[in-house]
Amino acid sequence: MTRLRVALAKGRLYEPSVERFRRAGAAPAADAGRRLLIPSTDPGIEFLVVKPGDVPVYVESGAADLGITGTDVLRETGADVLEPLELGFGFCRLSVAAPADAPYPVPAGGVTARVATKYPRLAQAHFGAAGRPVDVIQVNGSVEVAPLLGLSHWIVDLVDTGGTLRANGLVERETVLQCGAVLVANRAAQKLKLDAYLELMRRLEA
Ligand code: PRP
Repeated sequence: MTRLRVALAKGRLYEPSVERFRRAGAAPAADAGRRLLIPSTDPGIEFLVVKPGDVPVYVESGAADLGITGTDVLRETGADVLEPLELGFGFCRLSVAAPADAPYPVPAGGVTARVATKYPRLAQAHFGAAGRPVDVIQVNGSVEVAPLLGLSHWIVDLVDTGGTLRANGLVERETVLQCGAVLVANRAAQKLKLDAYLELMRRLEA
């Protein structure tokens, strides 16, 4: 039997991703414990649970046949994968934010702006396209604290409710990218496992 391995991201996309597969008849085994390769109620589907930023890596390489990731992570990695399905959840935006009282779009003193972000490639591309040089500082989380401590002038980060920005005295200045969850597929697996792939696609779309 052909088995499809599906990479799921830990974090905010995990529960809605599992729910979508559950409705498609493939729920992760309840007794998986701390196992990271998890069988499902459908013997033709196995799950792999990884960090969000790693889903495109596993799928592009073929270690996983399919995956669910956010378009933020997908564009940042630039992975060469198929994107057969927008999933209709995980909507948010990648935005530039700055302290409410900070000069924008030119920092005080006319210095080159420092921008803290988990998305160095997208941030660089955004400001580069506008001909605005910035120094990008890569951090891996809690990005909103960077301007408060003088690490950066601005940040580029995901905004959902806006609660984290407000709580840290930051305001949104520009949108870099509208984001949402997408199903991604390995190019070769889509061909080699075509029947199983089409069948799963049909169930996920139903
Ligand atoms: C994300 C993002 C923001 C926050 C936005 O962080 O990086 O910090 O959610 O959500 P809000 O607009 O609803 O407040 P996440 O919870 O993924 O944690 P992280 O900072 O460790 O990446």
